[in-house]
Amino acid sequence: MTNLISYDGEQQVFHLKNQQISYLLAVEDFDLVSHLYFGKAVENYHGQRKYPRVDRGFSGNLAGVEDRRYSQDTLLREYSMAGEGDYRTPAAKIVQADGSYALNFKFTGFEMFPGKPNLIGLPQAYVEADSEAETLVITSFDEVSQLELANYYTIYQDRPVIARSTQLRNLSNHSAVINKLASLQLDFAAEEFSVISLPGAHNKERQVQKEAIGYGIKKFGSRRGSTSHHMNNFIALEKGAADEFQGEVFGFNLVYSGNHSFEIERDQIDQLRLVAGINEEDFAWELNAGETFQTPEVLMVYSDQGLNKMSQAYHDLLTNRVARGKYRNAERSILVNNWEATYFDFTEEKLLPIVDAAAEVGIEMFVLDDGWYGQRDADNSSLGDWVVDKRKFPKGLNHFADYVHKKGLQFGLWMEPEMISIDSDLYREHPDYLMAYPGRTPAPSRSQHLLDLGRKEVRDNVFHQLSAIFDEGHVDYVKWDMNRSLSEVFSQQLAPSNQGEAFHRYILGLYELLENLVTTYPDILWEGCSGGGGRFDSGILHYMPQSWTSDNTDAVERLKIQYGTSLVYPPSAFTSHVSDIPNHQTGRKVSLETRGNAAMSSTFGYELDLTKLTKAEKQAVAEQVSLYKDIRQTVQFGQFARLKNPFTSNECVWQFIAQDKKEVLVMAFKILNQGQEPFSLLKLTGLDPQKNYQAANGEIYGGDELMNLGFYLPQQTEDFSSWLYRFKLVD
Ligand code: GLA
Repeated sequence: MTNLISYDGEQQVFHLKNQQISYLLAVEDFDLVSHLYFGKAVENYHGQRKYPRVDRGFSGNLAGVEDRRYSQDTLLREYSMAGEGDYRTPAAKIVQADGSYALNFKFTGFEMFPGKPNLIGLPQAYVEADSEAETLVITSFDEVSQLELANYYTIYQDRPVIARSTQLRNLSNHSAVINKLASLQLDFAAEEFSVISLPGAHNKERQVQKEAIGYGIKKFGSRRGSTSHHMNNFIALEKGAADEFQGEVFGFNLVYSGNHSFEIERDQIDQLRLVAGINEEDFAWELNAGETFQTPEVLMVYSDQGLNKMSQAYHDLLTNRVARGKYRNAERSILVNNWEATYFDFTEEKLLPIVDAAAEVGIEMFVLDDGWYGQRDADNSSLGDWVVDKRKFPKGLNHFADYVHKKGLQFGLWMEPEMISIDSDLYREHPDYLMAYPGRTPAPSRSQHLLDLGRKEVRDNVFHQLSAIFDEGHVDYVKWDMNRSLSEVFSQQLAPSNQGEAFHRYILGLYELLENLVTTYPDILWEGCSGGGGRFDSGILHYMPQSWTSDNTDAVERLKIQYGTSLVYPPSAFTSHVSDIPNHQTGRKVSLETRGNAAMSSTFGYELDLTKLTKAEKQAVAEQVSLYKDIRQTVQFGQFARLKNPFTSNECVWQFIAQDKKEVLVMAFKILNQGQEPFSLLKLTGLDPQKNYQAANGEIYGGDELMNLGFYLPQQTEDFSSWLYRFKLVD
């Protein structure tokens, strides 16, 4: 037993603690579970932080309790229900058979055990040995409704991380309807906070937004059926004047890929409440007698040294205890993808020279993007027909894949298995597979529609079609795309009164399909995609260790997108490609060097017609490829830190320290050139102050020099300049 959780029976206080963090909760009078503290580790809690008792107007009291100084409306709580007299944002709302939704959950017991339980059917953080973590389950019960609530807390031994989720069990003889069941509620005592979120759009994902938190309720979320480009399922709360390097930061990341919400409310006495989980809008789940509902989990990270330390904790956790499979810790291949090179206009014959050129410059994988199946000459047909188009590949897909393999490259394939085109054999055969409202014409988006993945026969159809391809054994990599938001989310398998389950059942169906595929084909490297980064989340990461970050391949725009993405997700998990100029999304012209430096800052590849490069450009690409092979272990699995912020300055700088600490890489970008440019001083972080480091030009720097004195970036002579520095530890 690792002893990460202790229970003081006299004071009824639970303390989850490791070397870095403490989380404290208590059972208060009348069996209400209250929140005490989450933050930097405290060795022993002596029970002195008693919640003050005051009679506050319009904050009522517990049923049957005369003490007017004790109110559920002001107490810091672990989990609050709608209708019980806590007027702040509730964590849950459950409508019972009689139409009422008031619930008074009273603490009934707890369990503590080593390890972390498996959340069936959901992605999650895991442990490899039970000694890595300990779990506390707090159970509460409502007598009248016979509903039981279980709040799960898992604390990791060596990480500043707690995973939280919620279960509701129906022990009555009637069904109840869950209108809301959050994964977590977290109340904070009155202190100044600001909130960081990651809003965006297609081609503009995960832009960093920071706001002060005033009175009222603030909600960040998605109703699109997927995580969305528009608001990632992550927020951070920063206390006081925290920044990248200092101050207290609390991160919250939902391990889920569907509708989500993060609600923050500053209450009448400046306390803060956070409620996070599946978005209650478009959600109503019938919980029948005897059934249990399991929410997805939220990964909470605490940092006492600003955002960078929080991100490093997420990167380590997501890489090593959320991602799975043989590629989890494996160096990822450098690929070339034909999308921006050819779009739909290709044949095997036209692709062969690109494959040849890729082999010549040392690229390791060729990815065949959209357009190889059905009769797909534009984006309005054939989704659902995962059979090779013989007009484009007269000798079949295997023939082309063999060619790629013979050239020494791996073969990757794009697919979008969640979708159906009206113009497809699948639709002609199974029109009912398309998700639509009865009697209404479904609304297209990118001329396509969704399959009802909540239905088993639909999932089976997809699985069998894909198996037929994968069983041939030629596919080394799959890019799994998803190019629209959900609408008309109606499932033919559900009764009218159960349609509120359709969104979540879609996601559960998707997870089941992905689980079957990744376990049946463990040698395939899976890359997630949704019009770029529209479903970029740690849920997908559980099945696919990397995702396409954005359809926007402009290196300058990518700096912000990659900066925002790195707040939570590790560079191994987001992919970046060098593309053509003028850039297809923005028309901008950026040097090959800067395009390379931006893309080499994560999992790397190309997305252009290599046959159109000049000899000099080809040589430069070959050099980039060979450089990346040399540095990729450090980039993909080193420790990442953000040094200069492109949202608040004309620069963007980040660094990587190799796992064995022997190498430090710095990628520095100056965006626009300007008159009388101030000199930009760059200071590194996280080095050994006692050791020396040697730059590529032979210059020696002390670790303390690089961190405290720093060095000047060169004055730039043109827009969009960049520099890649490599320092080696001197033994
Ligand atoms: C999405 C992807 C692109 C490309 C196209 C193909 O937009 O993000 O990379 O694969 O689909 O249709």
